[in-house]
Amino acid sequence: MSKPNQIRSVLARRVWDSRGRPTVEAEVLLEGGALGRAIVPAGASKGTREALELRDGGPAFGGLDVSRAVAHVNGEIAAAVAGLAADDQATLDGCLIALDGTTNKQRLGANATLAVSMAAAHAAAAAHGLPLYQYLGGPEATLLPMPQIQIFGGGAHAGRRVDIQDFMVVCPGAGSFAQALEWTAEVYRHAGALMQSRGARYGVADEGGWWPAFDTNEEALDALVNAIEAAGFVPGAQVGIALDIAASDFGRGGLYTLGLERRELDSDGLIELLLRWCERFPILSIEDPLAEDDPVAFARFTRAAPAQLQIVGDDLLVSDAALLRQAAAAGAANTVLLKPNQRGTLTETLRCWQTARELGYGAIVSARSGETEDTTIVDLAIGWGVGQLKVGSFARSERMAKWNEALRIEERLGASARFAGMSCFGRRRIDPPA
Ligand code: PGA
Ligand code: ZN
Repeated sequence: MSKPNQIRSVLARRVWDSRGRPTVEAEVLLEGGALGRAIVPAGASKGTREALELRDGGPAFGGLDVSRAVAHVNGEIAAAVAGLAADDQATLDGCLIALDGTTNKQRLGANATLAVSMAAAHAAAAAHGLPLYQYLGGPEATLLPMPQIQIFGGGAHAGRRVDIQDFMVVCPGAGSFAQALEWTAEVYRHAGALMQSRGARYGVADEGGWWPAFDTNEEALDALVNAIEAAGFVPGAQVGIALDIAASDFGRGGLYTLGLERRELDSDGLIELLLRWCERFPILSIEDPLAEDDPVAFARFTRAAPAQLQIVGDDLLVSDAALLRQAAAAGAANTVLLKPNQRGTLTETLRCWQTARELGYGAIVSARSGETEDTTIVDLAIGWGVGQLKVGSFARSERMAKWNEALRIEERLGASARFAGMSCFGRRRIDPPA
């Protein structure tokens, strides 16, 4: 006798992401008729230790087709997960991990496994008659995340026009998620007007932030502060700056090449530069200040930085619980970025978040630069109670779909909704590593 929550069938297809590149969509149908669907995103500035995104190679679509990953879902994976309970995520994901049999999903592809992992979660939530965030978090899933929203793009998302990848804002003075979006909308609009007035409004970068037509990285920071002030907010107190340096993209072996400023810095030079920026600008959060191959300097930066600064590991940690433990032992970073496709299953991503909590680290659920209309990460952020969410800028519907979904959830929660504000920011840990 089959049960209503058992997987009857799995179907994958190729769909297209926000850069017009192929990606994997999966549908999971349960015996009771519930259906779940999910699409995986794709990064451009990836950590080398991320789970493998399987691409076809060859001439079509620049080698980026995903027909092999799609075939893996429709073949081996569909056969292996048929009959499993969709609401036993750990067993289902364990099955995907074992079926792949490698440490980084290189056989089946993390894009194949994650599509099924997420679609199954949606199907299970539907079978339980619950929105996904509530299915994941129960009645306690009422914490709305602080959004980190890009105003200027850069780095790999803007043809390396500036070195820094994300110039973002967070709104410590906002009283609700909805208000944080309202404030960001004003800052984004004023930043656009500022670029217009300089004759430098050339459209947007990959994640929807204004195209970074600047002569130095600091000029971008000045422009961001000007936009915050022009929008009528007190920089730092009401609206602060969050940066993703994405230093792995311009640094190797402890040498960093700032292409825009035509200069090379060693690790300590970069640390000094970033600490100076922290003094001059209202910076509340910095991601990947140093490269993933420079963990000792990453820890040095963490020790030298102001105690209240959030220091985020993305390429350094790639959402991996074991790498997070290593970093904690070395005293590197105080917050981890959670990107499900860096691991390839929800269970492994959740394990990293649980490890972060155990270690006293903060976390931020994050989208990728190549996104779609899929809003699963919003449910993860709220369902897991992570308290921070980063999905790119305040333009382009693959970004706005996420912000708008979080708005709907905040409205649906009504009086029980709580806004995380700054409460979930990572801080320097009191206990230095032994
Ligand atoms: P990616 O960048 O999705 O292109 O890897 C996002 C980030 O670095 O946070
Ligand atoms: Zn990053």
